[in-house]
Order: sequence, then structure tokens, then C-alpha cells
Amino acid sequence: MRLTSSSQWVDYFAANEQWLLPTPWHLGAEVTPEELRSIARSLQAWQLGETSDGRHLRACAQAYALKVGDPEFPAAVEWFIREEQRHGESLGKFLDLAGVPRIQCDWGDTCFRAFRYALVNMECWVTVVIMVENLALVYYAAIRSATRSTLLKRICQQILHDELPHIRFQYERLAILHARRSWWLRQLTHLAQRVLYFGVVLAVWYGHKSALRAGGHSFGSYWRTSWRKMNFAWERMRPENFDVSTVPIRSPVTACNLRETAAG
Ligand SMILES: [Fe+2]
Ligand SMILES: [Fe+2]
Repeated sequence: MRLTSSSQWVDYFAANEQWLLPTPWHLGAEVTPEELRSIARSLQAWQLGETSDGRHLRACAQAYALKVGDPEFPAAVEWFIREEQRHGESLGKFLDLAGVPRIQCDWGDTCFRAFRYALVNMECWVTVVIMVENLALVYYAAIRSATRSTLLKRICQQILHDELPHIRFQYERLAILHARRSWWLRQLTHLAQRVLYFGVVLAVWYGHKSALRAGGHSFGSYWRTSWRKMNFAWERMRPENFDVSTVPIRSPVTACNLRETAAG
């Protein structure tokens, strides 16, 4: 497979922003008190998690781009941050319409941020984010099933639509980062990732089980889906899948062809 260049990612994100699904804000939240009992607390936490200002990531991406000589990488990351902030804003507006306050602090979000900020290199950042984005696929699909609100379903659909290419954005970067690593060091890296993912999957279940259950998951189905999606990403991030020695040329990339190869 050919790696997507940073300039192609910029093209993709810019095109994606032009093709957002229509969001029926005029319908209002249309969420029942029963639904809110299961999902409100959890949505507040995910909304907070999606609204990072991206300061640390920007600094990290700039240092990394200088080191590897990829001057367009920070622009691609800037678009990525913008898309995540759009997710946060959509969820925030939904909470406002549903009369649920936005929160400023959550233990899961604090742990996630602390982890990313403590380990300020690109690999640590991408590793944690790809895990959370995999679980976001499980989570937003569950929320979509947990509600009859047309608005919330559409917000989830748009987020799911955006997250697939995000996962590819991360696994391609990890393939590049691991490309020159020896076989045994890559095995060790993979083992460390599995241990970390084990903890992240459990933490997300602990923090969001009522919403996940409302979306039709048992612990078993959540566990299996989470690992299946991450196994797909692990398979894709193998450097031998890509010709990492070539620098991809700038060419138009459509949302469609990026999404096709990111689906797990
Ligand atoms: Fe997101
Ligand atoms: Fe994302």
C-alpha cells in the first residue's frame, strides 16, 4: 500500500469539511429522560474529551516534522485537531439542547490527557490516540443505537464517518515510526501496546458501561468488538504493508478511497 502524504491528508481534511452530513438542529434534542439516564453522564465525558485545544499535539507535531523533514505534517495535524473540535462542539450543542450541562472535569479525560502530556513524543501520542479512536467507533455506534433522537443519531453518524480516516491517519504514522525498528523491538512494542490497550478497554467499560449497555452491548460483546477493531489497526500498522521508503507525491485524495481502506 502507498502511504498517504501529509499534503494528501490536508487535501482530504479540507474536502471532508465540505461534505458534512446535514445536521437537523431544528428538530431539537428529542431525547427521553430514560435515554438520558443511561447516556447523559457518559456523553458529558466524551464531549469534554473531544474538545482539547490541541496545544501539546501542535508542539509535538512541529518538533516531529522538523526532525523527519515533513513540513506539511503540522498542517495535517491542525486539520485533525479542527475535526476533533467539531465533534466536541456538535456534542456540546446537543447537550445544551437536551438541558444537560457541559462539564469541565472528568477522571477518564484527566487520565487520558495526563498520559499524553507526560509522554511528549509523537509515537506515545499516536499510540494512545489510535486506541481511544478505536473505542470511539464502538462507543458512538452504541450511542446511535441507544437513542431515538434523530439529531444525536446524525451526530454519531458524522463522528463515525470522520473517525475511520483518523484511525488510518494514526496507523500510517505508526508504520512510519516503527519502520526502522528491529524485529524484536517491534514485538516488544506490540506487547506493550496490548498491555496498554487492555487497560484502556477496561477503563472505558468502567466509565461508560451504562451507555454501552443501553446501546446493546454486554461486557463480552464490547470486549470482542474492541479487540477486533484494534487487531485490524495492528495488522494495518505493520511497516511491511507500506512502501515507507517513498515519499508519496501530492495528488487528490477523496474521502471515499481513504475510508475504504480504514474500515475494520
Ligand atoms: Fe472525535
Ligand atoms: Fe478522531
